[in-house]
Amino acid sequence: MGCIVVVGGFFGDEGKGKIVAYIVNKDNTSLAARGGVGPNAGHTFVVGDKTFKVRMLPSAALNTKTKLAIGAGVLVNPEVLIQEITSFDVHKRTFIDRNCGIISKEHIRKDLSTNHLKNNIGTTGTGTGPANSDRALRILTLAKDQAELKDYISDVSSMIHYHLDKKEDVLIEGTQGTFLSLFHGGYPFVTSKDVTASSICADVGIGPKNVDDVLVVFKSYVTRVGAGPLENELDRDESVKRGWLEFGSVTGRERRSSPFNIEMAKKAIRLNSATSLAITKMDILYPQIAGITEYTKLPINARNFIENIESELGLKVVLIGTGADVNAVIDRRK
Ligand code: IMP
Ligand code: MG
Repeated sequence: MGCIVVVGGFFGDEGKGKIVAYIVNKDNTSLAARGGVGPNAGHTFVVGDKTFKVRMLPSAALNTKTKLAIGAGVLVNPEVLIQEITSFDVHKRTFIDRNCGIISKEHIRKDLSTNHLKNNIGTTGTGTGPANSDRALRILTLAKDQAELKDYISDVSSMIHYHLDKKEDVLIEGTQGTFLSLFHGGYPFVTSKDVTASSICADVGIGPKNVDDVLVVFKSYVTRVGAGPLENELDRDESVKRGWLEFGSVTGRERRSSPFNIEMAKKAIRLNSATSLAITKMDILYPQIAGITEYTKLPINARNFIENIESELGLKVVLIGTGADVNAVIDRRK
């Protein structure tokens, strides 16, 4: 596998957390490093009857052999992070880059009380926009100057390169989704940074030539939380009827939904230089496939859905999600 970067192809909430957790368990990845904005993201993964959520740690937390790192470009809310480190009991294998920016109470207050951010954009209210704004002004506190993080401070870029030099597997986990990019999404209804694969790499301190595989994750339908255009948006009743009504894992807000958008997917492929694809929540479109792990056992309509995407996008769908559980995956990588 070498170095794989995993990013979302739509507006976030494509199910990256589950895909990352699956890959890391299956491949025994040495190191998982998180890029992206910060605790505005919520990644969920389910094992048996237990649901896990992370906003700061990589979704690799359950594999006890995997080192967990947070790249310099990521904003850290120390309270949220320390709570996650404690609840997953990962003190000894968590590494925070010394240059991560720190979110303060004041950043959160601003995010929640500025009309433009709260009402026009519909941010997650987690302080990430105001903190990145301070970072651009070069007045933001960094992790190396935060006493409560001192046990975890390291140089994440060097760590990744060390593992890659030893020919070990490294997974770089993106957050948010392509069309929430500050540069390539529908400005101003976007997050406070670029979140395409190139920026995720920059966040953790690797260059384009270090990457072997860029896996873009799509859900079998599109959801969006917060304001901004959503082509072919369904009304709430239709969304409920199809089982597409979801709730944000960070804010609990209702997500809006629309059918899979092939034109957006094509653009996401280009923006991220995708080399392979994952499609999650196929069991929501085709309930009879829940839990199936073999491609040949899919009914013809489900296979047509996948194969149409493959022929339109010119890439293989290597991982297919067939249920909430981390192991409910059809793995076509080999
Ligand atoms: P912010 O990132 O909190 O500033 O929010 C800006 C926009 O991005 C809002 O529409 C949020 O709902 C959306 N957003 C940010 N992070 C995520 C995410 O991880 N999943 C889904 N939407 C997100
Ligand atoms: Mg999410």
